[in-house]
Amino acid sequence: MKIAVLPGDGIGTEIVAEAIRVLDALDLSFEMETALVGGAAYEAHGHPLPESTLKLAKEADAVLFGAVGDWKYDKLDRPLRPEQAILGLRKNLGLFANFRPAICYEQLVDASSLKPELIAGLDILIIRELTGDIYFGQPRGRRTAADGHFPGAEEAFDTMRYSRPEVERIARVAFEAARKRNKRVTSVDKANVLETFQFWKDVVTEVHKDYPDIELDHMYVDNAAMQLVKAPKKFDVIVTGNMFGDILSDEAAMLTGSIGMLPSASLNSSNQGLYEPSHGSAPDIAGKGVANPLATILSAAMMLRFSLNQAEAADRIESAVKHVLASGLRTGDIWSEGTKRVGTREMGDAVVAAITKKTITG
Ligand code: IPM
Ligand code: MG
Repeated sequence: MKIAVLPGDGIGTEIVAEAIRVLDALDLSFEMETALVGGAAYEAHGHPLPESTLKLAKEADAVLFGAVGDWKYDKLDRPLRPEQAILGLRKNLGLFANFRPAICYEQLVDASSLKPELIAGLDILIIRELTGDIYFGQPRGRRTAADGHFPGAEEAFDTMRYSRPEVERIARVAFEAARKRNKRVTSVDKANVLETFQFWKDVVTEVHKDYPDIELDHMYVDNAAMQLVKAPKKFDVIVTGNMFGDILSDEAAMLTGSIGMLPSASLNSSNQGLYEPSHGSAPDIAGKGVANPLATILSAAMMLRFSLNQAEAADRIESAVKHVLASGLRTGDIWSEGTKRVGTREMGDAVVAAITKKTITG
């Protein structure tokens, strides 16, 4: 089994280093190979996703990804910006199914900006379509407006589009995932305004006929944004398009009060996957050794479960993380009165120790 390790920028290198130490502590045999991506790759090779990095990712069974981006690249031409690396990987590996769980850990209930009773026990899963929609739709660009409110003016445009097979396959992923959970799917759309999302809704409804055991409801995206802060526990699985999923998954992550805790997985049809924390590269704290490595460590657990067929090892990581939280260790982002503040490395050490101890006691 081969893992392509792409730490990227900002805190990416620090948090991925801890995930690797955790993987090493499991005593499984993987081959791991590291490559540059994002701004780091741009600096070294003049491109955020060099051919060699893409080749490594394609050949691996799974990609463990840190984060990319830094304000200092904001002025580069779009194709050279760090974010293009992640978009390029999604497109080239066909990673259409993005899993973004939002779980509120018992010990972190107070870290949320919502009242504890609204989020205690929260466990929702956002499934975001990741290779279609307005993110990748062609045509797009700048031109002189031929019509509209200001004919002759300079304008920019993007194209929102979904094909039937694209919607069908992500709907199936959502229904299958719901089967392993509480058997409820909310499909989020904007069918009241957009043709693309009326089609989305129609196709999801058709696919649902194959899943009579799953309860399906439909919600407009603006209402979904509201319901997420009003009564988030009413959701089980949310399935939506690329753009709405981008926005709602950040909202859902923040509900838990600890975006530094949330992993994510992006899978293609052969279960090859890219695993990354839900948070970004946090350039403001990069290199200070204070970032929370747990989202990346938990992403490595998802990688073991989904792409490497090592569910038991994934369980070991997840229980080690719970054990460490229960012992009161916290990085700055999840720290509260009465807990012990630790840095990135110490947090990694604690997870490794919990895993090793479990090995000894069987
Ligand atoms: C995410 C990010 C990316 C996205 C950016 C970095 C391109 O926000 O993974 O949610 O918009 O998909
Ligand atoms: Mg996002």
